[in-house]
Amino acid sequence: MDDRMSMSQTLTLYRRVPTRMCVCVVARQSELDGLEERLPAEFREMVTGIAASADEALPELPSTRPNVLVIEVNPALPGSMRRAEQTRARFPDLPMIAAVENLDLNKVRTLMRLGIKDVVALPFNVDELLPAVIDLGTEQAGTDAGLAPMHAVIHSSGGAGASTVVSHLAAALVDQNEDARCCIVDLDFQFGEMALLFGQTPSTGVLDCLDAGDRLDWDIVAGAVTKVRPRIDLLAAPRDIPPPETIATEQLLRLLTMLRQFYDHVLLDFPVGWSEAGLSAACACDRLLLVVDQSVRSISRAAKTIALLDSVELERQHVGLIVNRAEKRLFQAISTDDVSATLGREIVAAVPLVKSALQEAQVRGVLLSEEDPRGAFAKTFGQLAQNIATETGEAS
Ligand SMILES: Nc1ncnc2c1ncn2[C@@H]1O[C@H](COP(=O)(O)OP(=O)(O)OP(=O)(O)O)[C@@H](O)[C@H]1O
Ligand SMILES: [Mg+2]
Repeated sequence: MDDRMSMSQTLTLYRRVPTRMCVCVVARQSELDGLEERLPAEFREMVTGIAASADEALPELPSTRPNVLVIEVNPALPGSMRRAEQTRARFPDLPMIAAVENLDLNKVRTLMRLGIKDVVALPFNVDELLPAVIDLGTEQAGTDAGLAPMHAVIHSSGGAGASTVVSHLAAALVDQNEDARCCIVDLDFQFGEMALLFGQTPSTGVLDCLDAGDRLDWDIVAGAVTKVRPRIDLLAAPRDIPPPETIATEQLLRLLTMLRQFYDHVLLDFPVGWSEAGLSAACACDRLLLVVDQSVRSISRAAKTIALLDSVELERQHVGLIVNRAEKRLFQAISTDDVSATLGREIVAAVPLVKSALQEAQVRGVLLSEEDPRGAFAKTFGQLAQNIATETGEAS
């Protein structure tokens, strides 16, 4: 039987690959050749092969520390078992998978006793190897190392433009890096309409993940997301309003950590009102983008939000301002600089006011940047996405 995975199996698996995953495979050249031949293209970049026979001393590992080490072991050769043991001792935190010929239960038991996390058969079978590698890589990604940047877009006055910012920023982030994948989470559980901005009406979303409790795994997330654009997934708000304050903070944080392991960017869209779960999610973000406009009302309400964030000791530089509907009229009473000075936070973008084209595009479920990619509105988001990529160290 053909042991190549079907395209859909490959893609399902690929979506589970943690960001910046690196796998090192130490095995005989002939086994590496066989693996390379069977490895779907999507996974080639993450795997580095190092040729060495089963009982040869462990060669130098790649300078980018791998997340998972796959190492050929021949239990019949004392030198090979010794090498496995020494490698385990030298890299105690590096998850190891043993690749073994003529696999049987006794060999598996012996290897597991050495602290090897998993055992796969030689010659390599990608259907077996890839899920094993991805599961271990995911575990190892832990809680902070290797997590993708997460940004929250918050606002203090209804209709400030937070959802508009999230949708266009997501598009700009994937636009400026053709490998980047972005996940939007609509945290406006009551009235969230992010899906509509992309012209979709999904029946699944973020609540499916939260309701899963301890069963939450990547299959549940994959079933709950809606692909709203190429490389942009959305965890949509529920269709019906859930009972207020039933959102479990721990579960939400767990979900967000998982998303940060699988996507390159996570964007959170917030409602105006705060909940405990929402505030905790905001605190877990790399940066908060507070959407304001140049009105006294908007600024004074934004000041209240900033005071709340100060009270939970969110550092000043964690909050940036997005001035929406920005106007540079000569007699504009409040300039963008005034907004920044009053709120004591840096302006990260000034999004121009759009007369009617934005609203019209949104009614049709299209982004304005898709219709007018050269316009000032799209350019503002392009620049913001570039700044975010630079700040978060993403190669552009
Ligand atoms: N720069 C802009 N120029 C013109 N209209 C805008 C601009 N930004 C947003 N809008 C319009 O303002 C309305 C509200 O936008 P949006 O839904 O993004 O705000 P929000 O802050 O997410 O609102 P909510 O409080 O309901 O979550 C929309 O009709 C949108 O088209
Ligand atoms: Mg909104």
